[in-house]
This record gives sequence, structure tokens and C-alpha cells, in this order.
Amino acid sequence: MKKLYIKTFGCQMNEYDSDKMADVLGQSSLEHGDAMVRTDRPEDADVILFNTCSVREKAQEKVFSDLGRVKALKLARPDLVIGVGGCVASQEGAAITKRAPYVDVVFGPQTLHRLPALIEARRASGRPQVDIRFPEIEKFDHLPPAIADGATAFVSIMEGCSKYCSFCVVPYTRGEEVSRGFDDVLVEIAGLAAQGVREVTLLGQNVNAYSAPMPDAVDSADCADFATLLEYVAELPGIERIRYTTSHPKEFTQRLIDAYARIPELVSHLHLPVQSGSDRVLMAMKRGYSVLEYKSIVRRLRRVRPDLSLSTDLIVGFPGETDADFEATMKLIDDVGFDASFSFVYSARPGTPAASLPDELDAATKLARLKRVQQAIDANEQRIGQAMVGTRQRVLVEGAARRDAREMMGRTDNNRVVNFAGAAEVGALIDMDIVSANTHSLRGVLPGPVRALPVAA
Ligand code: SAM
Ligand code: F3S
Repeated sequence: MKKLYIKTFGCQMNEYDSDKMADVLGQSSLEHGDAMVRTDRPEDADVILFNTCSVREKAQEKVFSDLGRVKALKLARPDLVIGVGGCVASQEGAAITKRAPYVDVVFGPQTLHRLPALIEARRASGRPQVDIRFPEIEKFDHLPPAIADGATAFVSIMEGCSKYCSFCVVPYTRGEEVSRGFDDVLVEIAGLAAQGVREVTLLGQNVNAYSAPMPDAVDSADCADFATLLEYVAELPGIERIRYTTSHPKEFTQRLIDAYARIPELVSHLHLPVQSGSDRVLMAMKRGYSVLEYKSIVRRLRRVRPDLSLSTDLIVGFPGETDADFEATMKLIDDVGFDASFSFVYSARPGTPAASLPDELDAATKLARLKRVQQAIDANEQRIGQAMVGTRQRVLVEGAARRDAREMMGRTDNNRVVNFAGAAEVGALIDMDIVSANTHSLRGVLPGPVRALPVAA
């Protein structure tokens, strides 16, 4: 068996794409070898892939330093295939093979299914291959059926982004929004459910922009929106929980809010990126909503789901962000009570409109702002975790605990990790008493006789 090493940078979309790369190479039989298995040791690999991210400068630069490191492997073994995929590949294209001539293939997020053919062409021609087009959504027609790995699974429902926030490269690297076929998505999820998946996370840059013709549509205007898709997914036998990421506040329709009242499988946890708590900054970011509109979505959601917990994405130090703008972000964190976030200092990305805005704020102030944001959100996380102590929570058992393999772990509806002693079946939904809260996890106790077992501190 040939071996494949994949290094993934960036978001969950990239994690998902990396799994799909392994699937296509796992299935294909290349001319000079058979199907491949994954390894976590680059030095053992026959193919090394970097699935890259260019959302921030640091992630982009990291790719080139990591590439430099595998150069020695290539010199020692000229047969080794080195590939660069993802958003840096999309943005840089053939420039990558100029800067790093030992790279054999460069492919984008929408052409990863062509990897076997690209590797083959590289071997046959002796020349590096570059394919970073956005060929609509043909990718999904060429991917092998999804294989379940445990009780939870990710399923991509749309690709790309058409929002063009002024700071973001994604629309340029992943292309415009394209939705996957309605039936395609349902067939994949039904297949995963039949293999034991109980919780599905629907993936896309803006899943709530989902729009695809219904199979029995009489005319092309008869499209399923995201709320309709959720209803159908919830009907699939075996699917007990539905999560999704990411959604955009701009398209958070009343129909989607109403779905929370009708669909119990939709979890009471939502990741809804806000980016800033200042209207002035939101406008400069071209986000398309105001703080009041964002809060109105949250208020309406909490009317139907009082226990809804929210996480978000935040950018600090956007060009022109004043102290007052930043304080407005701090206030929003407090008002909404976000319990987790992906928060970063703004990073100017070449080719985006915001990159040409004057940026006078010093790095130390930006870092100090980031620290305050993170401290506030950590404090919320602690507070909400403590408030869960003494409650009973439905936990989906996922497998062995990360820190202690003798224990097991699962997740609550609001996405909190619960560690517990005793044995339970992976995929089981168990009502557990929460007995304590640590920094990033909770401790639960299995119901019934197992409860008598001593619980590690
Ligand atoms: N679709 C999502 C949304 O609704 O905003 C965002 C997807 S984007 C790939 C993930 C996150 O990266 C963004 O929410 C933003 O916080 C962050 N991000 C994007 N561009 C950035 C930049 N230039 N500097 C810092 N953070 C950035
Ligand atoms: Fe980027 Fe804004 Fe789309 S953050 S991914 S352009 S919603």
C-alpha cells in the first residue's frame, strides 16, 4: 500500500476537503501503485499534500516554510509526489511551482477530485501540473460515497462565497456560492445514518444561502431553501442532531428562525459570525447588517429556543477601528453572551478592498484588544459551564476521552464536551447529570447502576 500524508491548515471546510482527498486517492489506482492509505509521518509518505489556507497572512507564510522542510525528502526520493491544494493554491497557482519548483501538483478546493489524474499527468509528462479552476460543482459527482467514522459526520452542502466582505479572500479562492443538489445531500446523509451516524454538521461558507431545485420541481423557481433542506434532513431515519457551520447573519431568514420551533433535531447551539460590534466597522467590512439586526436575530431565536448558546467569529484591529468601536464589540460580547469564538487580529490580504485602507493602529494595541476579547469570551464559557453543573444534559457518545483513554466523551446539544467514567455505546444519546465544569469540558455521570462507580476527580 502506498502512503499519503496530508497537512491541513485552516477551517473545517479544509478538514472536510482533506478527508475527500484521502477518499479519492484511497479509491483510485494510480499507474505506479495501488490505492493509498493515510500516514501521519511525512517521511514515510509516497504523496505529501498541503491543504492550505490564505485567510490570514500567517497561515499563508507557514505553507512555504513547511514546503521548504519537505524539499529534502523530495531530493532524497525524486519519486515522492508533493501537492499543494486549498486557498493558497487557488490564489497563487503556477507561482507556487516557480517559488518551490519541487512541487508536482497544484490544485484548488474545487478540483481536488482530479488529484489522481493530475498525479498521473505529472508522472507521464514530467512537468508540474496546475489546475485551480472552479468547475461549478462537478466535484461531488466524482467523489466516492462518504464513509462514516463514528457517530458524527460533516457533509458539505454548498461551496464558495458571494458575499465579498471587504477583508476576505474566500470569494476569490473558493469561487462564488454554488449549492449541491438537494437529493445528493440527502442521499449522502441517509448513507451516513445507515452506517451509524447520529449527528450531522452541514458545511459551507454560508449554508443559509443554500438554494437548489426540488427534485419534483415544476419550474426552475421551485427551489429548496436552507430551512426546507433542514426539514428533510431531520426526517432521515437515524439522524438525531443537526448542526451547521457557517451561516451568515444577512440571510438568517424568519423561515430559518421558525425552523427552530419545528425541528427538535436542530441543536440549541449556533455559530453566527458577527465580526464586530460597531456599525461603522461592519459597514466598512461590507457585512450587510447592523448590530441591531444581528441582535434581533438572536432575540427572535431565543424566543423559540431560550437555551440557545451562541459562538461567533470576531476580527479586532480592522483599519480605522477606534477605541469606541472596540468597546462596542466588548459590549456585544456581553449582551449576547457568546460562549466561544474564533477571534483574530485583522490581517490585510492582497487583492481585497480593505487591504488598501489606511491602517494606523499599532500591533501592540491590536494584540491587547484581542486578549480582552478572548478573556471576555473565556469568562462567558466558564460562567455558562458552571451554570450547567447540576443540570441533566442529553449527551451523544462519541468515543474515548481525549486526555484519558480509560474514560469516554460525548457532546451536549450546546456543543460542550462531557467526559465520563464507565462504558457506553458510541452513538448512544444518554441523559447525564453534569457534576462539575473544567476550563473547556464538563464532567458527567452515567445514569443507572453505573452511577455507583467511583468518578475520577
Ligand atoms: N462565512 C463566514 C461568515 O459568515 O463570516 C466566514 C468564513 S471566513 C473563511 C472565516 C473567518 O475568518 C471569518 O469569519 C473572519 O472572522 C476570519 N477572517 C477572514 N478574513 C480575515 C482577515 N483578513 N483577517 C482576519 N480574520 C479574517
Ligand atoms: Fe469571507 Fe465574508 Fe464570505 S468573511 S467567506 S466573504 S461571508
